[in-house]
Amino acid sequence: MQVVAVFGANGGLGQALIQEYLITNPQACVLAVARSECPEALFNWLQAENFSFSESDVEIDPGRVIWQKCNFSEPSLHALFELWRAANIELSGLLSTIGWLHQESAEHGNWQPERRIEALNEAQLLEYFRVNAILPALILQGAKPLLPKKEPSFVIQLGAKVGSITDNHLGGWYGYRASKAALNMLYKTAAIEFKRTHKQLCIGVIHPGTTDTDLSKPFQERLPADKLYSAAASAERIWSVINSLDAKDSGGFWFWDGKPLPW
Ligand SMILES: NC(=O)c1ccc[n+]([C@@H]2O[C@H](COP(=O)([O-])OP(=O)(O)OC[C@H]3O[C@@H](n4cnc5c(N)ncnc54)[C@H](OP(=O)(O)O)[C@@H]3O)[C@@H](O)[C@H]2O)c1
Repeated sequence: MQVVAVFGANGGLGQALIQEYLITNPQACVLAVARSECPEALFNWLQAENFSFSESDVEIDPGRVIWQKCNFSEPSLHALFELWRAANIELSGLLSTIGWLHQESAEHGNWQPERRIEALNEAQLLEYFRVNAILPALILQGAKPLLPKKEPSFVIQLGAKVGSITDNHLGGWYGYRASKAALNMLYKTAAIEFKRTHKQLCIGVIHPGTTDTDLSKPFQERLPADKLYSAAASAERIWSVINSLDAKDSGGFWFWDGKPLPW
């Protein structure tokens, strides 16, 4: 049975990726990891489609979604992976959507992507790197003992085309760009290391295309309508890229249509 973990399961793309995966793999088991409860819309959809749902145990069963709350601190990640290891879980794949571009909080106020060097500040830059690059690396580290050494598997993190250094012709968005570029380097480096021990594993980063989620909301106005994709359409394309990959592709960075992106 396929067992796939989705980190950032509650986001716009996270929810759509789970739905698309279960539509095409109804006998699979999904470990859905998020900071919050399962969103009502996804929960209702799972009920309507007769998938079973659990928040209280990690019993792997076909057609089951196991919702795992995690605050993504290093200790909480260790505890999560240890729980899975103790339950003898082997992952067929891991997909993480975790990332942020803008956020508003009582602590920091309104953090928007920095257009000019004057807008840079240490706290915001650190948070971009922590969430967009460091967390995905810690997730990969934690998943390592759960990945099969001889069977095909994947670890994919959603990145961003703006994280390509070669493709940066516009400037702006310093912290988001730089943290996604750092993610690329961390995943590329890990792909080289894992090749020695996990010969059938594909590690990589996929750019989902501009998708209608909370993350892109403030930046959708100037986009032509045909360049903004629904989460469902992006999810279908992301899975189609993942399904086309194998171990020889490990260490890659791809556009949503499967074409390689330059570093
Ligand atoms: N949408 C686009 O147009 C677009 C374009 C290019 C790349 N991407 C990339 O695609 C991925 C998914 O984005 P999306 O569009 O689905 O956005 P989204 O709806 O905002 O989802 C982002 C996910 O990241 C999680 N996250 C954010 N900050 C976090 C933190 N501090 N700690 C732990 N988790 C955190 C969110 O969890 P919470 O809900 O708990 O905050 C959520 O699950 C991101 O990596 C993004 O950079 C998106």
